[in-house]
Amino acid sequence: MNFENSWGNELRSSSYARLEFPNTYHLAYRDLPEILAKHVKGEKALDFGCGTGRSARFLKRLNFVVTGVDISADMLGYAKELDPAGEYLLVSNGNYSHLGEGSFDLVLSIFTFDNIPGWENRRHILQALSKLLRPTGRLICLDANPALYTHEWASFSTKEFPENSRAKNGELVRISMKDVDDKRPVEDVLWTEEAYLQLFDLAGLTLEATYKPLGRESDPCDWLNETTIAPWFIYVLKRED
Ligand SMILES: C[S@@+](CC[C@H](N)C(=O)[O-])C[C@H]1O[C@@H](n2cnc3c(N)ncnc32)[C@H](O)[C@@H]1O
Repeated sequence: MNFENSWGNELRSSSYARLEFPNTYHLAYRDLPEILAKHVKGEKALDFGCGTGRSARFLKRLNFVVTGVDISADMLGYAKELDPAGEYLLVSNGNYSHLGEGSFDLVLSIFTFDNIPGWENRRHILQALSKLLRPTGRLICLDANPALYTHEWASFSTKEFPENSRAKNGELVRISMKDVDDKRPVEDVLWTEEAYLQLFDLAGLTLEATYKPLGRESDPCDWLNETTIAPWFIYVLKRED
């Protein structure tokens, strides 16, 4: 498959750097403080696929000591600009041992695997990330529900891409983001819940919990499908004993 990381260029990065937690993004982050408090002990965190640093800054506000890593130098440039005191590092696929094996209480990955193609590639990356965890550590992986690519949302539109409904696991799907200036469609890799469960198993990770946050009347957003279909799935994982 010819897949290029959508975030590996300057126009995308500058557009993404201005994005905070509007609309459908609110639902990705709304319940995380509670989920982290429930499942994570300790403060040392790796933000895998930190992008322009939104997720790393979020963790810092919750008192985690955070290292942000990404494969896009453009995205990391903005992360450093927005948080000059923060630690943001460029990494290549699956090479993380220099970050400290067995030393992290949390590896958080938000919207990153939506950009990672291939079973073997994903397994290799997840296995390398799991080695970074302390025995009590947790890997939290937040990615799109496949239904994200076939419905309309406060933050996204997919009506121009009817072919998304025929995509199989691992294939590319397209989506338009409403909250950023750069309106070019983003390409993601479709991954079903069933495939995630198989992948976690292959990578030696045990699922501790899954969360599927729904929009509520009390949220500060004009929801479209978010009150009945969860746009994001949040998987909480631990190393197999
Ligand atoms: C949509 S952004 C999300 C950024 C951030 N986590 C957030 O919530 O704002 C996804 C990021 O994952 C990064 N990424 C994609 N593939 C990656 C890989 N194999 N290793 C590390 N980062 C990757 C991209 O470069 C991009 O910055």
